Amino acid sequence: MNLEHSIAALATRIRSAASITALTGAGVSAASGVPTFRGSKGLWRNYAPEQLATPEAFREDPRLVWEWYNWRRELIAKCRPNAAHTVLAAWSRRYPRFHLITQNVDGLHELAGTQDVVRFHGSIWEVLCWERCPGSPERWRDDRVPFEEIPPHCPHCSGLIRPGVVWFGEAIDPEVWTRSVEAASCEVFLTAGTSAVVYPAAGLIHEARSRGAFTVEINPDLTPNSGAVDLTIQARAEEVLPAVDSLLLS
Ligand code: APR
Repeated sequence: MNLEHSIAALATRIRSAASITALTGAGVSAASGVPTFRGSKGLWRNYAPEQLATPEAFREDPRLVWEWYNWRRELIAKCRPNAAHTVLAAWSRRYPRFHLITQNVDGLHELAGTQDVVRFHGSIWEVLCWERCPGSPERWRDDRVPFEEIPPHCPHCSGLIRPGVVWFGEAIDPEVWTRSVEAASCEVFLTAGTSAVVYPAAGLIHEARSRGAFTVEINPDLTPNSGAVDLTIQARAEEVLPAVDSLLLS
């Protein structure tokens, strides 16, 4: 099916759907200037995830880990939502039973105005006390860019704070997982901008399909999920989503 027909097919499905869920990955922020993790210019080409995005890495060298997150925060602070974020935000307001689950921690969906984002991997703009000290909340927003000191410290116990993101080997927040699985019960489940290699996020589209959803993947590249979905749209999210939306509005 060519791109124009695929876009029309997705618009037809969304137009008649009573419930829609979108799962996004780093690819939807690529056009905003936020580096992806994999692929030719991905972050994991220059850094070893095990050295930066695990509790063991943080225990071993909190300064190194915070230098990397501080660099990413400074970069992301200069980035703005792109057309893909804008369309998904419009759908979150237009369709009562629209859910957005994102693997991204950059906050660009919220900045675009998306309601009630399910942050599957947390937020780079939130922190928590590494010791989980009794005086500190479970997590809190900390927008400082850059931090005055690296690694930054907990204001409640002077111990270390850590980024409020889910690291490799860590469990997804149970409430986030429950909301995500509930959102998989929908008529249309689409993924955009994810390489579909990190579980359990990558498994949600299979869960949706098993519950009868029409499944769609939007990604210029093929992924391990491409052969299992109903519609594969091999194009950029910031191109596809506005094109689908203009058909919905026409
Ligand atoms: N539109 C759509 N997809 C795009 C675009 C675009 N403009 N540009 C790139 N992509 C695709 C790439 O082809 C790739 O398949 O986005 C995907 C990004 O994949 P990853 O970098 O692996 O990002 P993601 O799938 O979100 O990673 C999942 O892995 O490192 C962890 O916690 C991190 O949340 C992240 C998780």
